[in-house]
This record gives sequence, C-alpha cells and structure tokens, in this order.
Amino acid sequence: MCGIVGVVADPDLVPNVVGMLVEGLRRLEYRGYDSAGFAFIECGTGRLIVLKDRGRIDDVVKGYGVLRYCGVSGLAHTRWATHGKPSRENAHPHTDCGGRVAVVHNGIIRNYAELRDLLESRGHKFVSETDTEVVAHLFEEFLSRGLEPFEAFRRVVSLIEGAYAIALLHVGEPNRIYFARNVSPLVIGLGEGFNMVSSDIPSMLPYTRRVVALRDGEYGFIEPYRVYIEKDGEAVEWRRRVTTVTWSVESAEKGGYPHFMLKEIMEQPRVLYETYEGLLSSGEAIDAAKLIAEADLVFVTGAGTSFHAGLLFAYYSALLASTPVIPFISSEYGIYERLARPGSVLVAVSQSGETIDTLKALRAFKSRGARVVAVSNVVASTIPRESDRVVYTRAGPEIGVAATKTFLTQVLALTMISVELGRVRGVLGDSEASGLVAALRSAGDLAGRSLQLGVREVDRLVETLKTRNSMYVLGRDIGVALAYEAALKIKEVSYLHAEAYPAGESKHGPIALVEKGFPVFFLLGSGSEEHLDKVQGNVLEMKARDALTIVVGPPAASRLKGVDVFINVGEYDEVTAPYAVMPVIQLLAYKLAVSLGRDPDKPRNLAKTVTVE
Ligand code: G6P
Repeated sequence: MCGIVGVVADPDLVPNVVGMLVEGLRRLEYRGYDSAGFAFIECGTGRLIVLKDRGRIDDVVKGYGVLRYCGVSGLAHTRWATHGKPSRENAHPHTDCGGRVAVVHNGIIRNYAELRDLLESRGHKFVSETDTEVVAHLFEEFLSRGLEPFEAFRRVVSLIEGAYAIALLHVGEPNRIYFARNVSPLVIGLGEGFNMVSSDIPSMLPYTRRVVALRDGEYGFIEPYRVYIEKDGEAVEWRRRVTTVTWSVESAEKGGYPHFMLKEIMEQPRVLYETYEGLLSSGEAIDAAKLIAEADLVFVTGAGTSFHAGLLFAYYSALLASTPVIPFISSEYGIYERLARPGSVLVAVSQSGETIDTLKALRAFKSRGARVVAVSNVVASTIPRESDRVVYTRAGPEIGVAATKTFLTQVLALTMISVELGRVRGVLGDSEASGLVAALRSAGDLAGRSLQLGVREVDRLVETLKTRNSMYVLGRDIGVALAYEAALKIKEVSYLHAEAYPAGESKHGPIALVEKGFPVFFLLGSGSEEHLDKVQGNVLEMKARDALTIVVGPPAASRLKGVDVFINVGEYDEVTAPYAVMPVIQLLAYKLAVSLGRDPDKPRNLAKTVTVE
C-alpha cells in the first residue's frame, strides 16, 4: 500500500526533477505515510543521492532539505509498512552494496527470504528488514556478472514472485528508469520531454493527463522520449492504450478546505449529479443490469466502505428487482467462490479498482466461469479491466483515506443497476422504473440539504460525543447498511469505538453495555409510518436505560418519543435515504476527528488502497 513515483527528463526542458518527485509523492501520501524517501541522479556529478526516513513526506522533505538538491532523474516512495517496522533503514528507496542502484516498490515479494539467503551467501550485505532490498542486490549481482542492464532487470523480474510495482534507477543509465508490475498498480505518464511512472494518476496530474495503465506481467523502461514495454520477452504495443484523463489538477487539491475529507464531503452534491448524468449518457447501468438479468446466481463483493455499498445493492435488488443477491466481504471469497459457476455474476465494488482481496475474488469467480460487473471510480484500473462490464462512478480523485463521496456515488450507480434490473425482469413497469431513475436525479440535492440542515446539531453533538469512548449506531431495513457505514466512518477517523447493529438485534446482547449517557444513534431508512413504528420501540428500549438517543431522519421522525437529539435531514424515502442520511454522519465523523486532534485525511494504521492480502 505504498506509493511510488519516478521521473526521467530531458535536462534542457526540465532541468531538475526533484520538485516533480516531491509534488507527485505528496499526492500519493494517502497510500501510506509512515516513511518517505527519494533517490536521484544528481545534476552535474552523476552521483546517486538517497534521502529517506520514517515520518511523513513533508517532514522528510524539510528535514533533509530535499528541495535544495538537483536531479536529472529520480524515484520517490511513501511507505505503509508490511515487512519491517517504520524506520530509516526500512524506508525506500533501497540500494545495493555499491550504492549505485536504487529501488522503490509497492507490494510484497513473496520469495524474498530465499533470494536474500542466496544473495547473502554471495557476499551481499543487507541493511533493512524489507523484502524490497533483494531487488537492488539482485540487479547488482547480474550487472557484476556482465549482463546488460536491461537483461539484468529482466532476470530480476523473472526471479521475484508476488505482488509488485517496482521502479529502479542506477548510475550507469541516468536517463532511464526500469519498471515492472504484477498485481500492484502502476501507471505511465507521458510528458513533453519527460516521462513518469506512478502508482496512481493524481500524482501526475500537474504534469500530464496522458497515461498508460500497465498490466500484470509487464515490465520495461522509460526515458525522456521513449517508453518501452515488454511481456514474456515480447515487445508490447502500448500506443493504443493511451488514455487521456479528464480529472483536473484542482480536483486532486484541497481547494481552500483544511482537509481533503471535508472537501470530498462537500463535493457530494456535484459529483452525485455528475455520476448520475454520466450513468444516463453512457448506458453503463443498463448494460450491467442486462448481464445480471441473465444470471442464475448473483453475488456482490467489496472491502470496507465498498462492501457497505454492496449491501445496499443487495437490499435494493431485493426491493426493486425481486432478485436475491448474496453479499460477501471480499477477503472471505474463499467460501463463496465454491458457489460460483458459469451463469453466476459477481458485482465487484472497488473505488480504486485495485484492492487485492476484491481482485482475488474477481479472479476466483472468473476462473469458475462466472461473469463480473465492476463498479469503480478509477478508469483503466485493474478490476474494471478484468471485468465483463464496468460501471464508473464519476467522483473524481478521492484523496482522504476515509471514503465519502465515492461511497454515495457507488450507491447511486448500484441503485441505478437495481432499478434497471427491475425493469429488465419486469418487476418494475417502465414508467415506475423511469420514475425511480428520475427520483435519483435529486441525490445531489438531498446531500446538499443534509449538510445544510444538519450542521448545527452536528457541532453540538461533537462536544458531547468527544467525551465518550463508545457508541452504537442502529438502523432497520436500509438503515442497517447505513449504520455499518456510519460506524466505520466514526471509528476510522475519530478512533472512538462505534458499533453498528440492526436495531432489532440490539436487544440480543449490545444493550447490556448501555448506561446513563451512552450514545445510541438511530438512522432512519424512511419516514413511513410502519418504519417509524418499528424504530419507536427500539428508541424507547434504549431510553429506558438512560441512553443518549440520537435520531437522524426525515421531518416525520419528529413524532418519535424518547429522542434526545433529532437531526432533521429533510424529506426522503427508502430509495433516496443514503443521500440524506450519510452526508451529515460523514460531517460528524470529520468534526469529531478534528476536535479530538486527529488527522482525518490520514488516520493512523490505515491506507486508502490495500494492495496486500
Ligand atoms: C481501504 C480504505 C477504505 C475503502 C477500502 C476498499 O480500507 O481505507 O476507505 O473502502 O479500502 O477500497 P476500494 O478502493 O476497493 O473501494
């Protein structure tokens, strides 16, 4: 879950690449932030300079005066530790014995221990506990045996097993960076007089929008005016794969907000609208629904927030299309893949399109003949590429580690699929389905209203909640999936314990913890009489134990008794509930985090994209 960047440039056009490396790396910090490092070939001297340490990018940049250096080509890395604790030694780039080779890596080299033993027996000295360091020593070893550098790199790639995105630089070829990809994402950025490699597109946006996403098993090199890609020893024709991304530079910057998370919460009215329009004009939801309609068994999977969006898909497919959908958390695919067969469809939900567990689930299902629909926010990422149909959310880059705008845009895309499925299957009449599609047009407006109406209560509530250690978030029907996502949001950015339960289930254990002032949220799935009646009983049960009861709901919920705090988020129904309920909860989680002095954009121990199992 690390991030890597590499730049090679024509010195007449880009005299110093260090600024590009720093800027590019800052935009990848969401991928991990326990250590950072840079390696570049110094202008004039041709020496390899390596500056790295534990800590955040800006600390390392300041501490080592990185921006005072000049480089003709270079690599950068932001780390989320897998092998070896965060420390200077374990920070990337890693070098060989001679200090002439530098390597950055994202992923896990599974067979590193045996390679390391082999290299040590040949006299190589290792200074870190990482799996990555073997790459630098292996390359050095092959060079010392007289191999040409590219041949040496090929040999390295043929020996390492596991997941990797690698970039390698050595003093012998200051104008070339070698790269290789297997499982972990890697993208090439094509510039004027320079080329880049990076784990993700946002890091390249200030410099170029023309990108080529690498595929598993591909490796090669970039030079200022040349890109060469190879697979299994054969040159790859990549020019037809060049994509021009439309994300703007500003979309990956904070735009005046103190944190990305707040910016991304506030952007929801707009990106929901853009996603809606994009779905209508592309016909992607309809195509996906047609494929799903042919299935005899439908599954939905994802990790974290994406799984919660998947739960809502299962719910809406039952409600609107009378179609049973089996939801499972992607890391648990081992059990569910046994049910997969030709005729099954898996809906794989992944914002990044790169989460390893979701990718593995997809591959396991495909190998048993199932077909796959991807719902993703990143064009040309791996999961969409390997799927039969793709439905894109149009949320723009999400930098905050906690998913916000991508959640609601996923829900919108998935609900559109459920409606179309209902139409194809004849469960919904044509006008009924069109009416629902039209109602979803208001998703962005509902999100905007939720933020406006809820903000005052949220501010008050933050003062109370920050003095508590634990809380429950309860719901019924659709409110259950929303409760799971709400509890996750609160937990991951504020570090307060928040646990979600179906409200009816709360009597079967959780209520034992409730005492005076214990906060219990109720997220309402709709304002219908029936729904309110059911929730009323649960609210009173909690109130009877002196809980602090908080209801997030439509105006009709003001009739509920036993409520201490009512957050009225405006009118909504069962199909539009997510857009009214979630934004205010996301805002609450954000404000709680800030008031407790946490960094909501980079919660401890978490990474935005999890590319290791
Ligand atoms: C990590 C992130 C979450 C995200 C999950 C799945 O845990 O911190 O915000 O929901 O991965 O990521 P994906 O890119 O597959 O949606």
